[in-house]
Formats: sequence, C-alpha cells, structure tokens
Amino acid sequence: MVCPTTASSAERVSPDARSPLALRLVRLSKRYPAGDLALSDVSLSVPPGQVLGLIGPSGAGKSTLIRCINRLVEPTSGQVFLGPARPGSPAPDEIELSALGRRGLRRARRRIGMIFQEFALVERLTVMENVLSGRLGYVPFWRSWLRRFPPADIANAYRLLDRVGLAEHADKRADALSGGQRQRVGITRALAQEPDLLLVDEPTASLDPKTSRQIMRLLREVCAEANRADDTGRGSGPGSGRGLAAIVNIHDVALAQQFMMRIVGLRAGRIVYDGPPDGLSPEVLTQIYGEEDWGSTTEDAGHSGGAPERHPAGATQHHPGPEPPTDQSMAGAL
Ligand SMILES: Nc1ncnc2c1ncn2[C@@H]1O[C@H](COP(=O)(O)OP(=O)(O)OP(=O)(O)O)[C@@H](O)[C@H]1O
Ligand SMILES: [Mg+2]
Repeated sequence: MVCPTTASSAERVSPDARSPLALRLVRLSKRYPAGDLALSDVSLSVPPGQVLGLIGPSGAGKSTLIRCINRLVEPTSGQVFLGPARPGSPAPDEIELSALGRRGLRRARRRIGMIFQEFALVERLTVMENVLSGRLGYVPFWRSWLRRFPPADIANAYRLLDRVGLAEHADKRADALSGGQRQRVGITRALAQEPDLLLVDEPTASLDPKTSRQIMRLLREVCAEANRADDTGRGSGPGSGRGLAAIVNIHDVALAQQFMMRIVGLRAGRIVYDGPPDGLSPEVLTQIYGEEDWGSTTEDAGHSGGAPERHPAGATQHHPGPEPPTDQSMAGAL
C-alpha cells in the first residue's frame, strides 16, 4: 500500500487532530451472498472535518464501503465506529455502528447524511419538503405524517437553502429543477439532518463538468463552514461549529484531486493508496486502475484544493488553510 507518513507530523498536529476521530473502520470485509468479495480487510480512520475522496475502478467496492458504514449493506466482518457527537450532545462517546440493534442504528443514522448520484428526491414534493424530510428522524411520527415541522426546523431549512442558492426555489416541485439544483437539494437535505458525517456516492456522475465542479466546491465549502465555530449553536450548516467529515465516492480523478483533502484508492476491495491528492502520480494511478496513459489525466500538485497536512496515522489532516476559490456565479449558473 502506498501510505506515506512524515515523522514531524505529531509535532505539527492541529487541535482537531487531538480530538477523537469522526469515523473508524477496523478490518471491514464484505462478501455478497453471490460470492463476490467486495471489501477485504479495510481499515480507515477519518478525523473530524476531513473531506476524503474514495476512488477506484468500477467494481472496486466504493459503494459497498460507503453502504457498510451506515449498514445499508451489512458487513460480513469487521467494525465500524462513529465518533462522538458535538460537545454537550447526548452521544458524547464513540459508538460501534456495527454492533447496534435496529433502534440504536436508526438513532445513529440521524448523524450520517447520505448524498446520492441520482439525488433520491421525492419528485412530487417541494424543495422545502424534501429538505425537511432530512428532519424525519428527529420529529415525532404524527408531526411528520401531517408534515408539521417545528418552526426552528423550517427556519434552519430556509437558512440552508439560502446558503446553497436555492431560497427562491423553496416552493418549487423537485421535478421542476435542473440536475445541479437537485443535487443542491440533496446536499441541503443531508445538512438539515445535522450530521457529523456525510457519505456521498458519486454526487456528480450525472452532471456536466461545470456543474460537477460547482457541486464539489459546495460540498467542500459546507464541510469547512461546519467547522468554523460561532454562536449560532445549531445545525451542520454554516457556522454551526461542528466537525463535518465526508467520504466522497468519485470517478473523476481530476475533480477528486482538486477538491478532496485526502485520497483513498480502492482496488478489488482493498486500499492500495492512502495519501494526499498530489500523491496521485501516474504510477499510483496505475496501481489503482491498471495500465493507462495517465499523463493527461492528473492535475499538477499545485492545483489540488485546500492544503492537506500529514496525519500521524497516514491520513491527511485538514487545517484552516486555503479553500478552493468561491465561484460567485455558482447559484445563478444553475
Ligand atoms: N447487491 C449485490 N449483490 C452481489 N454483489 C454485489 C452487490 N453489490 C455489489 N456487488 C459486487 O461487489 C463488488 C463491488 O461493487 P460496488 O458497487 O461496491 O463497486 P463500486 O466501486 O461502487 O463500482 P462503481 O464504480 O461501478 O459504482 C462488485 O464485484 C459488484 O459486482
Ligand atoms: Mg458505486
């Protein structure tokens, strides 16, 4: 495995790196009933606030890995630990997701937002209703059945929609939106959950290149904003002060290089690369994907988004460094 570490990283460790991990996978394996070994002995640690890109060829196990975390797919063996929730919350300790019963799992899943390639919106509902569906795990059944959400949830949903440039579309039906707008709704719905972890499966696979970049930038920004403490004290959106980590499953290597803080390369269910985006040399890409002319695919190291910093465990640790540039035209262009 290509897994570079630096001796000095322990001294340069940022305050975030001393706090508990957002996610820990320990020797996770998945064999499907049909016999396919989709994941093999995968161990991974993700610090709070880290936006990690998962790359690898088709069938490498990327979706399986993401789905094993929240147990949409049951792992065959190994453990999944979700880090502690924000300070002062009722779940201050790390929990083992892989050991939870149905009820505990339902509660824990509130803290994990999922964003899908196909957006997974309810077409006939409005943008606002779709976003509020992110709150379903929190409100009593009668309220959700009557679609009566607490005013604070509605205010927060407006705030989040405003953040992603969709406030004026709140009352539109989901099926009246463009692909980029729909993915923004998907992101907003996940944020409305107030998650501690985002699991993102090919968020840009059905979008054009420009919209794809805008969506990746937005993901990166909302994760960074969630880390910036202020006194709003609510939500995982801007200024909530929570460490929002994300695992983003992505096929586009150049996009991953530009917007991810750390890259994990999977091949045939195993991690074959774990390091910074600028470590994706043609040799490493050959290790992940097999032989190809990679010279024209990778970006220069200087183009990678943010400033990844080495983490003692071989992971990269985000620190408040340069962010990818904000695209002012983002909302209007969609
Ligand atoms: N429900 C399933 N039943 C049986 N085998 C499955 C199932 N889902 C996935 N697999 C197999 O597990 C392996 C990993 O699949 P997975 O979908 O995780 O790959 P992936 O990296 O997400 O691929 P892609 O980039 O095409 O989405 C493949 O061999 C696939 O055929
Ligand atoms: Mg997949």
